Amino acid sequence: GALLVIKKVYIGMSADLIHPGHLNILREAQKLGEVIVGLLTDEAIASYKRLPHLTFQQRKEIVENLKNVSQVVAQESLDYTKNLRIYKPHFVVHGNDWCEGVQRKTRQRVIEVLAEWGGRLVEVPYTQGISSTKLHQAMKEIGVTPDVRLRRLKRLIAVKENIRIIEVHNGLTGLIAENIKVNVKGKQEEFDGMWSSSLTDSTARGKPDIEVVDGSSRMSTINEIFEVTTKPLIYDADTGGIPEHFNFTVRSLERLGVSAVVIEDKIGLKKNSLLGLDVIQEQDSIDNFCRKISAGKAAKITDDFMIVARIESLILGKGIDDALKRSEAYLEAGANAILIHSRHESPDEIKKFCDEYRKIAENFPLFAVPTTYNRVYERELQDWGINVVIYANHLLRSAYPSMVRTAESILRHNRSYECDSTCMPIKDILGLIEGTI
Ligand code: SPV
Ligand code: MG
Repeated sequence: GALLVIKKVYIGMSADLIHPGHLNILREAQKLGEVIVGLLTDEAIASYKRLPHLTFQQRKEIVENLKNVSQVVAQESLDYTKNLRIYKPHFVVHGNDWCEGVQRKTRQRVIEVLAEWGGRLVEVPYTQGISSTKLHQAMKEIGVTPDVRLRRLKRLIAVKENIRIIEVHNGLTGLIAENIKVNVKGKQEEFDGMWSSSLTDSTARGKPDIEVVDGSSRMSTINEIFEVTTKPLIYDADTGGIPEHFNFTVRSLERLGVSAVVIEDKIGLKKNSLLGLDVIQEQDSIDNFCRKISAGKAAKITDDFMIVARIESLILGKGIDDALKRSEAYLEAGANAILIHSRHESPDEIKKFCDEYRKIAENFPLFAVPTTYNRVYERELQDWGINVVIYANHLLRSAYPSMVRTAESILRHNRSYECDSTCMPIKDILGLIEGTI
């Protein structure tokens, strides 16, 4: 009689939200042989789309318990090559919906690699009427709880090389951070989270950026933003005030579901860093600032909430050595990450700092705010070792000139006809916010 060979069938999947389409693929795959699921790691998923809702371990447990699955292995990249060469399956099964977009190249590569041992790609008709994209949309409508949102930044930092954050100062800008997506070479680009900037939150209220807008007002803004978004938020707490007050700030932020608080090592009347030495700004002593960090650390309840120490040495012309010395001390005192700020047009000092920082603090995330050195690409910053890139003020800075032009036009022409073409059409603004119509 013929020797019975059980054929191996490989399926790559994220399995974040299992739906009938997945079950159909598994059923079809099982008809061809024994099913190995290559479960994409969080890193692999984050490399081309959003962070999964469930962790790898949770997803693994679910898939292992599905009918028709013999084995679950980690697939560490979107590309199947490594696992295919290890398991040499007779078949790869996939929905027939990956001929376009980011996945097109992946598909081509699967066909080529399988050909090395005569394996074959089998495509199952896509299950109509259901898609993870739609399910994700539905999840967004349900919203997010504070602790899930809070955890999200740390999870992102763990799995994603470049975290991209944009400034928000109200619900509307929150919606921009949440929803704006651009398709670049088949990949969906979007922001990973939000920055509550002291500069723009103050400016939006017509107040100076000198810690005069109090914490309650700042948090009420955040509350509004959180009502309409799900992405994580990093809070700019200026100097953090005195240690005895910083405790309370940490607790309140954590309760809201903010992911990180940034405090800068300045003391006295705080002025915006981009003013540099044009104004009087005083840097705090290392000891003093460390006490504040420790107070915050003692106050926080979860491990996931991050205290980020922002170093102003480069802003104040104190040099890289001072910045490094402070990094070491602040991390020692309990900071979870460092934000290094600079107001130079060239990113050279940031690069130099990064090179040295990575020698003393290999595993502590580094944040940067490339407002003045804005020719540098995220990719370069990432190569130097920066994990989180913050675009700190751009939504407000772009909105204001446009509003001023409109106001001037109405005054100049005594009617609004002339500025109408640069205004959003009425039908668009009425359709902008769900529930308006
Ligand atoms: C902010 O956005 O408020 C900041 C960054 O703190 S900077 O304005 O560059 O100081
Ligand atoms: Mg600020």
